[in-house]
Amino acid sequence: MPSLLALRGGAPLRTKPNPPWPISDANDSERLTAVLRSGAWSFDGPWEKEFSRQFAEYCGAAEVLCVANGSVSLELALRALRIGPGDEVIVPALTWVATAGAVVEVGATPVFADVRAQDWCIDPESVRARITPRTRAIIAVHLYARMADLDALGTLAARHGLHLIEDCAHAHGFQWRGRGAGTLGVIGSYSFQQSKVMTAGEGGALICGDPLIADRLYALKNCGRKRRTESCFGFGFNHRLTEFQAAVLIGQLARLEAQRQHKEHLADQFSALIATIPGVQTLPPQPQVTRRTMYGFPLRYEGSEFARAPVDLLVEALRAEGVPVQRTYDVVYQSPLWTARSRQGSHGGSSPESGQRCPVAEEIARSGLVLLHFNFLGEAADVSELAAALAKVQQHAGDLRMEGLKRTLRHAGAGLLRELALRS
Ligand SMILES: Cc1ncc(COP(=O)(O)O)c(C=O)c1O
Repeated sequence: MPSLLALRGGAPLRTKPNPPWPISDANDSERLTAVLRSGAWSFDGPWEKEFSRQFAEYCGAAEVLCVANGSVSLELALRALRIGPGDEVIVPALTWVATAGAVVEVGATPVFADVRAQDWCIDPESVRARITPRTRAIIAVHLYARMADLDALGTLAARHGLHLIEDCAHAHGFQWRGRGAGTLGVIGSYSFQQSKVMTAGEGGALICGDPLIADRLYALKNCGRKRRTESCFGFGFNHRLTEFQAAVLIGQLARLEAQRQHKEHLADQFSALIATIPGVQTLPPQPQVTRRTMYGFPLRYEGSEFARAPVDLLVEALRAEGVPVQRTYDVVYQSPLWTARSRQGSHGGSSPESGQRCPVAEEIARSGLVLLHFNFLGEAADVSELAAALAKVQQHAGDLRMEGLKRTLRHAGAGLLRELALRS
C-alpha cells in the first residue's frame, strides 16, 4: 500500500511541475515583431488571410473566417442562418454555457437535449424528442475528446430541414470519417481561447462551405461590409481578430499535428495504465473518428469503489497528489452562470428547460471527472505518475471517506458553536 494521501499529510505522488502552456517559440516572437513593425494590426491583414487559408486546408474546409472568440462565432453562425426570436435551437445540456448563451443572445430559445453516456455528446434520440415546428437548428458540441454522432445528427437535420452547427471549441484536428470537424455541419465554430488546443489567448473561427452564408458571416463580423468592397451589405458589428492573434495562430497550427499525435499516443498509454484501477472508467473509442485530439481526458468513477467519497473530495485528493483534474462542466441549466436572464432569453424568448431535465447529463456532471489539460500529458513518465496517483487515491478511498466525515463533523461543530454563541 503506498504512503498516506497527500490530502491527509502524506507525500504527493507527483511533484514535477506541469508542462508550460501555452507554448511559443522564437518564430512566434519574430512574427509578432513583424506585425508590430508593419503597422497593419487588423482588418483582413496578410497574417489573418494566411492563417485562414492554412486552417481551412488543415480542416478540409472551403473557407475559414476569423472572429474575436468562440462565443461570438456561435452567435454569428445563428445570425447568418437568420435564427432569432420565435425560433428554437437544440443544444446539449452538458457543454460550456456559451453554446446555449449564443442562442439567447440572438433572441431565440435554447432547448436542452440530453447527452449519451458513451461519449458525453448530444444524444440524437433526445434531439429527436425535442424537435417542434419552431426548431430551426441543432448545435452539436464535440466535447473534451469525443465527437457528437454526426451521422445520426446529419440524418435528423436533413429529415426535419434543420441547420446543423458544429461547436468545435474542443475539436481542433478532429476528423469524422476522414472529414474535418466543422465541415459536416452547415457552419463549424472554433475557439482559440487560452486553454484550447490552439490558442491566441482569445480568438475564434468559423468554417463554412456555403459561399452565400460565408458572405453573411463576413458582413456580420465586419460591421456589415460586403467582401472586397466597402459597400454596405447589411447589419454587422465589429467581431474581428487582430493580426497579432493571427500571427500567433500560425505558429499554433504549425505545431498542432505533431502535438496532437504525441498526446494521442500518451492518452492511449494512460488509458491502458488506468484500465486495471477498480472503479475507473474511460469512454469507449469511436470508430467513426479518424483523427482525434485530446483536449480533456474524460473519466467516470464508480462511487462504490471509492468508498462513496464525494466527487469534490476526490478532485481535491487528486490535486493534492499533483494530478491536474477537475469536474466536468455543470449542466448548463444548473450552472450558476446560467442566470434568470439567460433563462428568459435576453430578447424576450423563454426557455422550456425547467420541464425537460436531462438525467444523463446531470449524472455525468455529478460524477464525471476531466483530467485536464491535454498539455499535462507531457511525456511517458508523466502518464505513469498520473496513473499511479489515481491508483493511490483509489486504494486510500476509505481515508477519503474519513476525511469527508471529519469535515462534515467539523462543519456541523462550527455551526453548533456559532449557534451557542448567538444564544449566549
Ligand atoms: C464548447 C465550447 N463552446 C464555446 C466556447 C466559447 O469559446 P470562447 O471562450 O472563445 O468564447 C467554449 C470555450 O470555452 C467551449 O468550451
